[in-house]
Amino acid sequence: MSKAKPIYLKDYQQPSHEITDVHLIFNIFEDYTEVTNISKFKQQGNKNELKLNGERLELLKVELNGKPLANKKPLANKKSLKDKNNNEGFYQKEDRFLILNRLPENFELTTVCKIFPQQNKSLEGLYQSKKIHCTQNEPEGFRKITYHLDRPDVMSRYKTTIVGDKNEQPIMLSNGNPIEEKKLPNNRHQITWEDPFKKPSYLFALVAGDLLCKQDEFRTKSGRSVVLKIYVSRGNEHRTQHAFNSLKKAMQWDEEKFALEYDLDIFMIVAIDDFNFGAMENKGLNIFNASAILADPASTTDESYENIEGIIAHEYFHNWTGNRITCRDWFQITLKEGLTVFRDQLFTADMTNPVVKRIKDVRDLRQYQFSEDQGPTAHPIRPPSYIQINNFYTATVYDKGAEVIRMIHTLIGETIFRRGIDKYFELYDGQAVTTDDFIRAMEIVSKKDLTQFKIWYERAGTPHLKCETTWNKESEAYSITLTQTCPYPPNQNVSPLHIPIKIGLLNKSGQEITCEKDLLELSQEKQTFILNNIKETPILSILRDFSAPVILDQNLSDEEVKILYQHDSNLFNRYNAGQNFLKRMFEKYCLGEKINWEELGDVFINHLNNLDLDPAYRSVLIEMPSLINLTQGQNNINYYQLDELYSNFKKELINPIAEKLEAKYFSLLDKHYQGSQSAINKRKLKNTCLAYLLYTKQHSELFWQQFEQEDNMTDCLSALLLLCHTDSKHRITALKEFLEKWQNDDLVMNKWFLVQALSKRSDTLSVIQNLQTHPNFDPLNPNKIRSLFGAFTQNLSLFHHPSGKAYQFIADKVMEIDGFNPMAASSLVSVFSQMKKLNSINQKEMAKQLKRIKNKKNLSNNVFEIVDKVLE
Ligand code: ARG
Ligand code: ZN
Repeated sequence: MSKAKPIYLKDYQQPSHEITDVHLIFNIFEDYTEVTNISKFKQQGNKNELKLNGERLELLKVELNGKPLANKKPLANKKSLKDKNNNEGFYQKEDRFLILNRLPENFELTTVCKIFPQQNKSLEGLYQSKKIHCTQNEPEGFRKITYHLDRPDVMSRYKTTIVGDKNEQPIMLSNGNPIEEKKLPNNRHQITWEDPFKKPSYLFALVAGDLLCKQDEFRTKSGRSVVLKIYVSRGNEHRTQHAFNSLKKAMQWDEEKFALEYDLDIFMIVAIDDFNFGAMENKGLNIFNASAILADPASTTDESYENIEGIIAHEYFHNWTGNRITCRDWFQITLKEGLTVFRDQLFTADMTNPVVKRIKDVRDLRQYQFSEDQGPTAHPIRPPSYIQINNFYTATVYDKGAEVIRMIHTLIGETIFRRGIDKYFELYDGQAVTTDDFIRAMEIVSKKDLTQFKIWYERAGTPHLKCETTWNKESEAYSITLTQTCPYPPNQNVSPLHIPIKIGLLNKSGQEITCEKDLLELSQEKQTFILNNIKETPILSILRDFSAPVILDQNLSDEEVKILYQHDSNLFNRYNAGQNFLKRMFEKYCLGEKINWEELGDVFINHLNNLDLDPAYRSVLIEMPSLINLTQGQNNINYYQLDELYSNFKKELINPIAEKLEAKYFSLLDKHYQGSQSAINKRKLKNTCLAYLLYTKQHSELFWQQFEQEDNMTDCLSALLLLCHTDSKHRITALKEFLEKWQNDDLVMNKWFLVQALSKRSDTLSVIQNLQTHPNFDPLNPNKIRSLFGAFTQNLSLFHHPSGKAYQFIADKVMEIDGFNPMAASSLVSVFSQMKKLNSINQKEMAKQLKRIKNKKNLSNNVFEIVDKVLE
């Protein structure tokens, strides 16, 4: 069990010293790397002691102003410590610190340490992935490289010299510009990089290894030429075009929308096979999970294409919102992440279909963030405390954080928001700041008091909004009464939030009624808004575009919901009404009530054939809510049973319209693959039709046909995924053919594991157990861990099997992975935080596994923090 104590935001203190300049020298050898760190310090307050972070470093040397510094053992030297006449500086080494005392006000400190990147499987600090040395330092990885004040509010100018073997490390990269290259004896060479911008240590990056470089160019608005370089491992050279296109689009978009231009002459991206998440925005040298950057039609789905474009944009946008202005401390992650996610959402909306993009984001928010917010790990977007900060790169901090920024955007409007961003840079460029500072910039330009709005930053849990309406025919007044509550987590201060609520009205035939307001600002616990001159019975379309991240409880009849589903001119709300409508139908079905299948089927088919709408939108319009979203806010859930009921419901719904779906499917077939947005959208609708046919008899031949005939990964994978659910003879053949074709392609093999982990067949767990020893499965690789084990935890009916055997299996994996990669382990264990929502049998089984994990020897703080909260 852990002894770790939480760290509190309220305890924040300024750093004792400034570090103006850092010169790092990396000497890379086959089984270790020697890191020399020459840094210039300036005392900032009246505290002379300097406490440097450092973990797992083998300290070889400490020098102050070029002279060896004395090492005093902590206990033995109490006396000399008190000796006022002794002015000589000294250092002491502790478990995770290097403590220096009796220092001059300004000095240069040199440390030399040995580190072992080859043995580092946590993928934090400097590590090796397939013979490539690379770094991941956010949030606290830098202290595994060298002794430093490893905190974001210490910003320094960096110079980096890398020395390596010419054959093993022909490419050696760091932040900024290369300023000097040298050949050395013994087949070694060195290069020095210099970054002109001050930055915190978490943005430091180094890459060294045998990589191939593809190059392009971008001309900025002001006419500067920026060299773009993407480094990949051999064999992936042909997969960088999409990344270059995306990057250039993002660069141009940021200039146009926010007048933000790139600030260095070179921008580099490196694709790495072993990476704990998507990507990292290191200054001038982004490091990416290979799966988040490499793409070509044969091996990459349309969905991945879009995600890749979004991630490239996200990391690029961080150059301003994250790097130029960074966080004062790690409680402020949402300052850069919430804002940057919001920016990448706007970007993707502009590049694709904005409504579909909004729908996808809200769907994910409800699926992951709402779940998080209603469980034991719920936290505000700016958490008040943490044990392990790596656990706070969450859906809440990122995606709810983006919703909070979006609400500001809605409240003050696009133009003023843009001015607020200008103000933000005017005030804070080059600094490490807080979310309060961001709000201040927005307040200055909007002249709006956002004091109450700031409660969003402190509030955990999803607010509930109850909406009651009355219409008075005589006075033609329509009144909307809104009540806000925040039932979970209990016992927190729930003073009312400031909530923007977009609205519109429809009449009974689904036409928009003009009304005087389209935005309500709720600021009290209960508030009534009156709309005048409403001449016919209105149906309220509320929370349009999902203008606030809340759970809505609105008193509409089924008939009214159906009208909104068919006609709402706000396309987000039309989709949302559909989700509600389908949910209501399923709830009726579960209660054994009669459903008008014909009517429901007609609604589906009408949407499907509505040529006024983009096919991608039509596809989401007829999508069934996920089981997680269906059970939002419920307790005592039995996913195992529910999944079967839901399948039966889908069968009832789909069978009567199967022929129409099939016909639509055939009408949407394209002869040849095309990559245009319209082709992508059409493909999406086609594969949605195909997926529904899973609930009808004997369509595996069709799946097989598509699998055999496809010329792109989107169609191939859609078909393979469907085949994997079936007992068809084609299932085995398809998996075999796919394997033969792609076995040398690591990224595509992730998908091969994934479709098998998602299979609804009852033998899936044992299939997964066997796949772990497959030659293409790498148990240390996070992408593989996610594809096989992570995906399985989303396979609800099987993961929540009442026997508890799946829980046991995943618990074993968590403990195993925790031994080498705590971050990956804690992301896998997070699924257990849904425990309290489950029925008693599942809860009991889950608790058993959690206790087992908690008792594991040497459990990481990462996993401990989560398990402890769930069991509390
Ligand atoms: N800053 C990176 C990004 O959002 C992600 C870093 C995630 N770090 C972590 N420890 N989970 O692009
Ligand atoms: Zn980010």
